[in-house]
Amino acid sequence: VGYVGAAAPSQRPLEVVLGGLGRLEYRGYDSAGVALVTPQGIASAKRAGKLTNLLDDLTEHPLPPATAAIGHTRWATHGAPNDVNAHPHLAGDVAVIHNGIIENFAALRTELEADGAAFASETDTEVVAHLLAAAYDGSLTEAMRAVVGRLEGAFTLLAVHASEPGTVVGARRNSPLVVGLGDGENYLGSDVAAFIAHTSTALELGQDEIVTISAESVTVTDAAGAPVTPREFTVDWDASAAVKGGYPSFMAKEIHEQPHAVADTLLGRTDPSGALVLDELRISEAVLRAVDKIVVVACGTAAYAGHVAKYAIEHWCRIPVEVELAHEFRYRDPIVDSRTLVVAISQSGETMDTIMAVRHAREQGATVLAIVNTHGSTIPRESDAVLYTHAGPEVAVASTKAFIAQITACYVLGLYLAQIRGNKFPDELKEILAQLHELPDGIQRVLDAWDEVRDVAVAMKDEPTVLFLGRHVGYPVALEGALKLKELAYIHAEGFAAGELKHGPIALVEEGQPVFVVVPSPRGRDVLHSKVVSNIQEVRARGARTLVIAEDGDEAVVPYADVVFRVPQVPTLLAPLVTVVPLQIFACELAGAKGLDVDQPRNLAKSVTVE
Ligand code: G6P
Repeated sequence: VGYVGAAAPSQRPLEVVLGGLGRLEYRGYDSAGVALVTPQGIASAKRAGKLTNLLDDLTEHPLPPATAAIGHTRWATHGAPNDVNAHPHLAGDVAVIHNGIIENFAALRTELEADGAAFASETDTEVVAHLLAAAYDGSLTEAMRAVVGRLEGAFTLLAVHASEPGTVVGARRNSPLVVGLGDGENYLGSDVAAFIAHTSTALELGQDEIVTISAESVTVTDAAGAPVTPREFTVDWDASAAVKGGYPSFMAKEIHEQPHAVADTLLGRTDPSGALVLDELRISEAVLRAVDKIVVVACGTAAYAGHVAKYAIEHWCRIPVEVELAHEFRYRDPIVDSRTLVVAISQSGETMDTIMAVRHAREQGATVLAIVNTHGSTIPRESDAVLYTHAGPEVAVASTKAFIAQITACYVLGLYLAQIRGNKFPDELKEILAQLHELPDGIQRVLDAWDEVRDVAVAMKDEPTVLFLGRHVGYPVALEGALKLKELAYIHAEGFAAGELKHGPIALVEEGQPVFVVVPSPRGRDVLHSKVVSNIQEVRARGARTLVIAEDGDEAVVPYADVVFRVPQVPTLLAPLVTVVPLQIFACELAGAKGLDVDQPRNLAKSVTVE
């Protein structure tokens, strides 16, 4: 976060930056620090651990009033997460903060040390502070331009200099930076959440651009120094959406917001006749009609949304869909061409692995459609088109409402493709869409049973391992249920395709082993239902404790289930939107019962902006 305000020194720069860090802390929380430009020079404080450690330190040792400030929370890449490696890094009269990785830092460090520079930390960032101090010749902007020209890798950098009390300079390459426009004050942030409490008017910065903010001006230039006119946009997130609003955690709040996430993602995408209209797509119908393969690229939870999408899109559109982890896709010479539609799914729009996959796909001539939640982020900017999920800001590190919104957006895309390609009768598509519009109520009914799930979760807080089984669309739901439990509760958990059980994983089952089973609807393909019911019997016969997610009225599971979590009756392909909810609540409540921080699990970060 960066801030510049009025000429008279005050506490406001520090307050604004700390407020912004609080809202950005989900991006990384190994350590936190600030640097202020004060009449006495640069003042700085930094502490390992979460932001609250820094806040305590600042209460004990207050910093003087300032005119500008920068602040950072870190997710360690180079150097352990301790006080010294925390940002900002100082050299001479310069302070700098950095996201990303500077790949040639070792060579630069050797060179600087040979020239007599003394390094305090093990970080790659500190080379930038020394380079800026050495390059400074009266203009921090020009020093930044010169230094950036020497850096390789990915970075967002913000810097201040003691001789320029009214300026913060930023630069970006392969890592996000947005500008917030205030009235007599201006802001910089890794994403708009940094300044959403103060302004909703923002500027997007392009690759290798340098921005200089003062209280009254924002100047953007390219690597050569030529002026650039950045794109202005309005952030439609309500500032209150980024606070807990009475819930014990952002995680609990975001799980509760899922009916809205679905409804808002559907909103405005149908015409009065009930047909889908996606004018926003910017990909012509001719191009979409010619598509002969879809490849979904994503990471983590977003990839599981892609797995769900595969079942639906292949069924509705008869186009083959591959789903691949973005980091695997990029480096295996995948077969894509101009008739391939690559769908990049990402909550943050900043996951570096996914960005690299997008770039590679476009280089191969594919059309790239982004399904992203965060406006002003990199993936939509680098894609041919974007379909935004409207889940609102997701703050808890592990994804919940964004997942549900991603699945919804994939369904919208699949139905739209089926509509324009004439794969299904219009009435059939309208029927599915109408059922999708009823899903927010269905999700709400699952949420109403929160306490039942909590009671089961609390009683299981000492379990060492939990298994999850699912079949068809229930399979990715099982994988997501296992991921949530690992992320939030640090419990070993694995998801399996129920049919695969007998080919190996069943060896894990012993007396008392908890096994969740996501059961398909008996009304849909009842063969599938009866096979999964058999799987429940198989694990139970070997001593498993079965926790079954089954739809209302499915009595066939009852004799074999130790616990049944009910979900409403919905069409098979739409079922993930309801069946995942008890699994999210379970992980959230079990982690809570263990006394863990469900919003900021250890070792994770929400936007992983390194490869
Ligand atoms: C990180 C987060 C996960 C998330 C994944 C993909 O690993 O901890 O919760 O699913 O990144 O993030 P994206 O922003 O691309 O959806």
